[in-house]
Amino acid sequence: MSYSIKYLENISATVNIPPDKSISHRALILASIAEGKTLIKNLLDCDDTRATLDCLRRLGVKITKKGKDALVQGCGKFFPKPKNEPLKLKANESGTTMRVLSGLLSTQKFSVEFEGKARLNQRPMARIIEPLRKMGANIEGRFYQPTRLGAEPEICPPLLIAPADQGIKGIDYGLPVSSAQVKSAIILAALYAEEKTIIREPHLSRDHTERMLKSFKVKIEVKEKEIVCYPAKKLESPGSLEVPADFSSAAFFIVLGLILKNSQITIKNVNLNPTRCGLLKVLKRMGANIQEERLSAEAYGNELCGDLKVKSSALTAATVGPQDIPSMIDEIPILSVAAALAKGNTLISGLDELRVKEADRLESIHSMLRRTGVVTRPVGASGIEIRGGTTLQKAEFDSFNDHRMAMSAIILGSTVGGCRINETKCIDKSFPEFISLINRLP
Ligand code: S3P
Repeated sequence: MSYSIKYLENISATVNIPPDKSISHRALILASIAEGKTLIKNLLDCDDTRATLDCLRRLGVKITKKGKDALVQGCGKFFPKPKNEPLKLKANESGTTMRVLSGLLSTQKFSVEFEGKARLNQRPMARIIEPLRKMGANIEGRFYQPTRLGAEPEICPPLLIAPADQGIKGIDYGLPVSSAQVKSAIILAALYAEEKTIIREPHLSRDHTERMLKSFKVKIEVKEKEIVCYPAKKLESPGSLEVPADFSSAAFFIVLGLILKNSQITIKNVNLNPTRCGLLKVLKRMGANIQEERLSAEAYGNELCGDLKVKSSALTAATVGPQDIPSMIDEIPILSVAAALAKGNTLISGLDELRVKEADRLESIHSMLRRTGVVTRPVGASGIEIRGGTTLQKAEFDSFNDHRMAMSAIILGSTVGGCRINETKCIDKSFPEFISLINRLP
């Protein structure tokens, strides 16, 4: 249903952002293969984390929801063998569910048919299939030819995963593209390998799996962009762990606080893991008034957290390069909104990965900004120039069925007045309370 975007100014608010999506997936998965019970406090409840939870329950894990918390009864490394093989699992539209769980399922003693829904069925899976096969996994997908001109054929869901005939071997693998989902799939398979596994990344992607494994007493060494994973005899439950607020969800309110007139927004207890907060660095380079008050990492499974205080700021353009992208991979749509309102021309390059997210985000960003009259220009195959500082026109936005595009368009539209967006249901993928939070801003 089409939604009318409220005009906003003079906001002074403190907001509580929902729990981190990436950490919630990982907490559910690691607690499921640990020995003992784990209480996950403040677990995110959204379409994507529900997909992981449902898969784990189908794999025989007992998970009890209690308000915002979940109690997971770990299976102790191996899931119970299902009676009817192969087991059918649904990742729905969640890439993290499918990619990360596939690493674990490749090590189990039963077969799985793993299917996706909608756009996930067009998202590339060769990136996990290749390293997992090198480890001895028995995994295959479906051939798919994307319709975009010049796009290479891909291997996509559904995936068929059968037991590894010769067991799982450790590998030494360099990821061609930085990806936390791929890295995590390999790390989880490596727990079951006969020898150690070494993983290298071009630029460091989010490291929640590595940090959380330490809370589960697993030996894993991280040296800059190289990770050494050792086979684990068992994972020991830490008893409980708490999920902090999601930086990627907070990002919409950070940019909102900066671009609205005469406003300030405080965001409580947000995850400030440096592999996630690249946007903060770029916004500060653009002149953003953001104060960080660091809290502790102890309660959050080695994750650094803090409060952020954001005030209206006169932003100027920035240049963002490929090395900046992995730590802000999900924040480019909202960065493009900040760039549209900044003075000068912003250049962002190294955005190839944006084409294979929930939508082709590179094309979607051009479309969103151009509808308000902002001039944008493609730069090479994977860059964009955004000419900021022009007067914005009211617009009808498309969500592209992509939660982060929809939320970015709503933030942009809230500075203009009279804007609409064609649908907002897709926002439930990560941030179901977003619309009510925006509408309740004082
Ligand atoms: C995620 C990793 C990123 C990110 C996604 C969540 C994760 O994907 O875009 O929203 O939880 O590991 P890639 O690994 O494809 O970069």
